[in-house]
Amino acid sequence: MDAILEARGLTKRFHGLVAVNGVSFQLRRGEILGLIGPNGAGKTTLVNMVSGTLAPTAGDLLFEGRSVRGVPAYRRAHLGIGRTFQVMKPFPGMSVLENVAVGALFGANGGERNLERARAWARACLESVGLGKRIAQRADALGGPDRKRLELARALAMKPRLLLLDEVMAGLNHVEIEEVIEDIRRVRAQGISILVIEHVMKAIKSLSDRVFVLHHGEKIVEGGTAEVLSDPRVVEAYLGRQRR
Ligand SMILES: Nc1ncnc2c1ncn2[C@@H]1O[C@H](COP(=O)(O)OP(=O)(O)O)[C@@H](O)[C@H]1O
Ligand SMILES: [Mg+2]
Repeated sequence: MDAILEARGLTKRFHGLVAVNGVSFQLRRGEILGLIGPNGAGKTTLVNMVSGTLAPTAGDLLFEGRSVRGVPAYRRAHLGIGRTFQVMKPFPGMSVLENVAVGALFGANGGERNLERARAWARACLESVGLGKRIAQRADALGGPDRKRLELARALAMKPRLLLLDEVMAGLNHVEIEEVIEDIRRVRAQGISILVIEHVMKAIKSLSDRVFVLHHGEKIVEGGTAEVLSDPRVVEAYLGRQRR
C-alpha cells in the first residue's frame, strides 16, 4: 500500500492531560480520509502534530515514507503538507489576492519566487474555489463562507500533496456546505490526498473513502465510511449526541 502519511503511536500530553494517545493510522495516496470524534477528542492536536505546529510527546510520523520528526512546520509546508486552521485569520488590511499570494510565496519546493507568477497562481487557486470575483476585496471584510474558501485557496496556493482540513464547514449553511464539498472534490481530482476533520456528517459520508474515530485521544474505530458510521461504538461515543 502506498501511504503518503503514516502515524505510528502518536501521543501528545499537555501536563496531566493525554490529548492524543498512541494513535497510528495510514493515509493512502489520493485518498480522502475522514477523521471524526466529539469535541475535545484530540483531532486538532493530531493535525497540529502532522503539520508540525506541535511536537509529539511520543511516536513518529512518516510523510512519503520519511520521518518528519523534528522537522519544523514551515519545512513541512515546503515538503508538501498543507493545512487550514479551525479559526481563520486573514492577514488584516491585505486583499484577498495578496493573502493567497503569500501562500504561493511560501509553498512547496521553497515557493514561487516571482511575485507576478505568485499572483497569477493565487488567482487560479481563488477561481478554483469560486472566489475569482473577490480578489481585490480586503480579506478581513469577507463573510464566513468566503473566509473558508479563502483559507482553502491559501492552503492550495502552497501546492500541497497532502491537505489537512480542520472543520472548514463549521458555521456554513446547507447550500454553502454543498459548495465546499464540491470544492474539496475538485482538490482531490488534482491528485491531492486529504485528511478531512468534520462534524458535518453529510460531508464525511459523501467525501471520505475511509474514516477513523478519535475518542478521548484514542482511535476507537477505523474502516470504510458506511461501516464506521453505523458502528455501535461510534454511535454511542459520538453520533448519538450529534445534532445533524
Ligand atoms: N495547548 C493546549 N494546552 C493544554 N491543553 C490542550 C491544548 N490544546 C488542546 N488541549 C486539550 O486537549 C484535548 C484535545 O483538544 P483538541 O485537539 O482541540 O480536540 P478536538 O479538536 O477534537 O476538539 C482537549 O481536552 C483540550 O482541552
Ligand atoms: Mg478541533
